[in-house]
Amino acid sequence: MASMVRWVEQGLTLLADPGMMRPTMNLRGKTVLITGAAKRLGREIALTLAGRGADIVVHYSRSFKEAETLGKEIRCLGVQAHLVQADFNPMRAGISKQVRDFAKKVFRKTSSVEVLINNAAIFYPTPFETISEKDWDAFMTINLKVPFFLAQVFGLRMQNQKEGKIINLADWTGERPPLRFIPYAVSKAGLVSVTKGLAKALAPHVQVLSIAPGPILPAEGATMKEQKLAAEKSLLKRYGNTKDIANAVRFLIEDSDFMTGSTLYVDGGASLV
Ligand SMILES: NC(=O)c1ccc[n+]([C@@H]2O[C@H](COP(=O)([O-])OP(=O)(O)OC[C@H]3O[C@@H](n4cnc5c(N)ncnc54)[C@H](OP(=O)(O)O)[C@@H]3O)[C@@H](O)[C@H]2O)c1
Repeated sequence: MASMVRWVEQGLTLLADPGMMRPTMNLRGKTVLITGAAKRLGREIALTLAGRGADIVVHYSRSFKEAETLGKEIRCLGVQAHLVQADFNPMRAGISKQVRDFAKKVFRKTSSVEVLINNAAIFYPTPFETISEKDWDAFMTINLKVPFFLAQVFGLRMQNQKEGKIINLADWTGERPPLRFIPYAVSKAGLVSVTKGLAKALAPHVQVLSIAPGPILPAEGATMKEQKLAAEKSLLKRYGNTKDIANAVRFLIEDSDFMTGSTLYVDGGASLV
């Protein structure tokens, strides 16, 4: 009897505080836009979220064949896949216009986007002595300005819908820039800061988060020695798996509703070494 009274009391407390009753986001029937989704981490995230019942907008730039294959695999899971191409070009003026043009293409395929995953990025070594302005412009544009303007366009619509999540793929190296990757690491540090700014701009209905992966997939062209070194640099002495990141993305969307502006480190402890 006493426990029943407690149960009723708890129920009344929940009713008195509607905030406590807010359900977490259920991906079934939602539309998720993933940039750079055709391969590698983007592909794993797409398949994981499609497996939860979300329709996926697969953004790609050059990987048309891989995007097509992924689209077929997504549709086999009983949900929709929309392929949208865009090459964001730092050499062309007006990156915000390039993003708006891309958004128009997206909204020709779907009427709403509830989740944006800013996954596309560039990554290459920039030895200190040779870093050029062109390198800085490329990293700042593709890894920082594009995610920001995408979040502006799609986030404002989410705000109107009173629902949305934005997840930015950062990197633990943003915290401690490796010598040969300064512009890349700085762009990712900027993305963590942008995440906090966007969380403020889009609160309370849209949550903005970032994930800071450690070594998951070696960069294309990385030598065995470089790969071994990256693993040794983590506390767990190994590479993570693409599923580690995809599961973290899914968790932030479906299982967390009181996080915004924060960064989840999925780095095998690399940032602590
Ligand atoms: N891999 C890791 O271990 C690791 C570690 C830490 C952080 N991260 C971060 O996690 C995310 C995914 O990693 P990843 O290794 O899978 O990424 P990735 O293979 O390096 O790049 C993902 C996609 O970005 C797209 N992209 C690049 N430049 C573009 C441009 N100018 N315009 C439009 N799209 C462009 C490419 O699409 P197309 O192929 O269609 O051209 C590419 O496939 C990235 O943000 C990365 O920085 C990854």
